[in-house]
Amino acid sequence: MDFADAKERVESLHQQLLEHNRRYYVLDDPIISDAQYDQLMRELIQLEAEFPELQTADSPTQRVGAEPLPFFEKVEHTTQMLSLGNAFNQEDLIEFDKRIKKATGLDQITYVCELKIDGLAVSVRFEDGIYKLGATRGDGQIGENITQNVKTIRSLPLKLAEPLTLEVRGEAYLPKKEFERINNQRAEKGEPLFANPRNAAAGSLRQLDPKLAAERALDLFFYGMDGESVETFATHQETLQSIRKLGLKVNPEWKVAQNIDEVWGYIEHWQLERSNLGYEIDGIVIKVDEYALRKELGFTAKSPRWAIAYKFPAEEAVSILEDIELRVGRTGVITPTAILHPVVLAGTTVKRASLHNEDIIREKGLLLGDHVVVKKAGDIIPEVVKVITSERTGKETAFHMPTHCPECDSELVRLEGEVALRCINPACAAQIREGIIHFVSRGAMNMERLGEKVVIQLFEHKLVSSIADLYYLQENDLLALPRMGAKSVGNILASIEKSKRNSLERLLFGLGIRFVGSKGAKMIAQHFETMDAIVEATEDDLLAVEEVGPKMAESIVTYFAKPEVKELLNRLKKANVNMSYTGPKVRTNATEHPFAGKVFVITGTLDSMTRQEAAERLEQLGAQVTNSVSKKTNYLLAGEKAGSKLTKAQDLGVTILDEKAFLANISL
Ligand code: IVH
Repeated sequence: MDFADAKERVESLHQQLLEHNRRYYVLDDPIISDAQYDQLMRELIQLEAEFPELQTADSPTQRVGAEPLPFFEKVEHTTQMLSLGNAFNQEDLIEFDKRIKKATGLDQITYVCELKIDGLAVSVRFEDGIYKLGATRGDGQIGENITQNVKTIRSLPLKLAEPLTLEVRGEAYLPKKEFERINNQRAEKGEPLFANPRNAAAGSLRQLDPKLAAERALDLFFYGMDGESVETFATHQETLQSIRKLGLKVNPEWKVAQNIDEVWGYIEHWQLERSNLGYEIDGIVIKVDEYALRKELGFTAKSPRWAIAYKFPAEEAVSILEDIELRVGRTGVITPTAILHPVVLAGTTVKRASLHNEDIIREKGLLLGDHVVVKKAGDIIPEVVKVITSERTGKETAFHMPTHCPECDSELVRLEGEVALRCINPACAAQIREGIIHFVSRGAMNMERLGEKVVIQLFEHKLVSSIADLYYLQENDLLALPRMGAKSVGNILASIEKSKRNSLERLLFGLGIRFVGSKGAKMIAQHFETMDAIVEATEDDLLAVEEVGPKMAESIVTYFAKPEVKELLNRLKKANVNMSYTGPKVRTNATEHPFAGKVFVITGTLDSMTRQEAAERLEQLGAQVTNSVSKKTNYLLAGEKAGSKLTKAQDLGVTILDEKAFLANISL
């Protein structure tokens, strides 16, 4: 290929990748499969290697190319990044509305309500439509240059739909699922956990090495624009629509309210629904829609008079730290848990709170008997925020981490680079017990009637000391346990029996091999199809599977080389536990099925499967399953007793599928 042809092809690839990226990340409506996307990307990388002159800063290949920085440079914002005044109740909002009416002399004001995303404010600059700069808010005047890290956010186009020069402002955040994934990974490695998605997002954006930032699936919603372009708009609504048209992501839940009552309705709605969102919100932002009015209203020293942030009631309470309990996880990591005097927090009684690791006990200066502030954010487990030192009586006592495992008494170690203490005794009873709890859990073998408490009983009565023992349990063994009736025993045995028919990926994940999460297990099971093939696989064979990196590959090979693992697999086989992949074959082209790329919400009770199973099936077909119904939802799968989601879907004109129609479609 000569230079001219290459140039033409590179330009065409830029266009195509830009558009597919926008369809995937911004519109949630992809029209090609991931494999086809990768193919285009590979072609571009190849051409840029051959013709380096053709590699431009806005090339889709340039997202994670940069080297680590020694420090962040300072950047001055062209216009100040303001913060907002707060409202904490309905009266505050009525006051806000009155102030605006008085200052403008109007008796009706149109507002735009938006979700207040709990992340990190960022400013992004495009010049002639090309991404140039990403910055943190800093003190509002001067922020830090995080251009490389912002660039790793997949939903951010590196080129706008029009060649405009402008600055857009928004909130970078970590989806809840991604937050859990990162924390699970950190727990596995013995690293300190992030307290909430906000901290995790801030931590990720402030990584000097953009490769680390790229490993975290950060996302970004834009809510405002600065620069000359904004002067062409008369209202905020128009601005939001235009931001989206340029290819930037705007949170779809924004709504126009004609008065403060409608604003309050929006707030009440989201206060109830926030737990169904895939990301954290900490309130609602209310903005005057018309720019002419905004100009009239102006600013106070710190914030605009034309907007206010309604903050959801703080989910905090004061309790007493009665004890610190240590738990040995299945990987041997010792995690301390605060045992609290029971306290009602966000509608539930809280008796325990996460302490993550001993460093937190030290950092917060916790003493046993202290009065502490406990916080619960959305779906996140409660955590201890701080000590109220003024409440100290002098009777509080210091807590010391043990030097030996609380379960098996072997000496605890701190592996290099890890914060957590670990028990490295492979025969440690706690690790084995936790491993069995993991094996029966919903994400693994899904033995529904065999909960954590029963596993602990079985373990304590020495009826089960390895996962294989579960399959050799006899009715009489179980009946001999305290508080165990014939009916429960029947249910437990049926759950165990049913689990024998699980597809291979559940077993593989259930084994608890280090670094093998449920997604990795699924890809490996789909690829190799039988346990024997996985056992025989070399690191190179494993690396051929998408999702599998060198650490995971090494861990798998080491695991299956152990004689005790061979013995375990033999016993499972003898008990007739299925060792093959029986899930659907992977579609090589995810767009083949009509549901591929579509956004689903599942509600109500299904007859033939659980919601979880329906979601898994849909995901295999390339569909995306989300929690709440919005304008982006394509289908609502509604089972029996569907409630508010059904009403909302009907209001929005979303296609509703009953179970019968769903089953007919998935078998296509
Ligand atoms: S508007 C001048 N809209 O909340 C207007 N802010 O103090 C500036 N935030 O740190 C903000 N979601 O980063 C606006 N939909 C939204 C928002 C939002 C989250 C953050 C923002 C700022 C704080 C407001």
